[in-house]
Amino acid sequence: MNIHEEIKASYKSLGKGFANMYDGIITRSTLLGKMMDSLVWELNAENAAKWINDALSPIPDNFSGKLLEVPIGTGVLTVPVYKNMNDANITCLDYSADMMKNAENRVNALGVKNVSFVQGDVGALPFEDESFDVVLSLNGFHAFPDKEAAYKETYRVLRTGGIFCGCFYIAQEFKRTDWFVKHMYVPKGFFTPPFETKSSLKERLSEMYSEAVVSTVKAEGIFRCVK
Ligand SMILES: C[S@@+](CC[C@H](N)C(=O)[O-])C[C@H]1O[C@@H](n2cnc3c(N)ncnc32)[C@H](O)[C@@H]1O
Repeated sequence: MNIHEEIKASYKSLGKGFANMYDGIITRSTLLGKMMDSLVWELNAENAAKWINDALSPIPDNFSGKLLEVPIGTGVLTVPVYKNMNDANITCLDYSADMMKNAENRVNALGVKNVSFVQGDVGALPFEDESFDVVLSLNGFHAFPDKEAAYKETYRVLRTGGIFCGCFYIAQEFKRTDWFVKHMYVPKGFFTPPFETKSSLKERLSEMYSEAVVSTVKAEGIFRCVK
């Protein structure tokens, strides 16, 4: 199996059998989620809420343009937000049809009408240049196998003046997280090296974008860029 197939297989089984567990962990709404948040990420309720708020905050209030979210995963963090973005045109993309099926079910359950789904690879996005006003990426870049292609493609499809924002794991911020990533998430295929540090990410994004701000909440890196 090549790296693309390994990652797809990992997320296929997560999306199929363990989506509820994933949702509980990422939203720390279950005991397991709270335990993992504090053990692996040293997060508590307050700073866990902060990383997601900070990652989403660059999206303007009452946003009414075109937004691409990649990867959507199960949509647990964003579909409830999209419910209140009635005037936006939202496209969600993921490698894994099984992860994305959970997001589609969530969209249908909440009656959200302005979201469409595309299965694909962030490294070869099936969209025209400059076709989105916002590109949002939550917890994706630590998973993507070809990060260079992912940075290029997310940049290419964003219009000049558009916003690129989101979050993902940043190395060398918190030793215990680094340990779990190396010994648990990488072997399972959920995370794929190489990983950015805060300074390497800041440098990379500053070279590409006209504005780039990078911050961290423990080992979660949050970025906001303007093209
Ligand atoms: C940890 S989940 C994050 C999902 C969601 N954004 C969240 O924060 O809950 C990572 C997702 O990245 C997707 N993924 C991995 N490599 C990808 C690629 N090359 N192109 C598109 N999606 C990819 C996986 O299928 C998985 O659903």
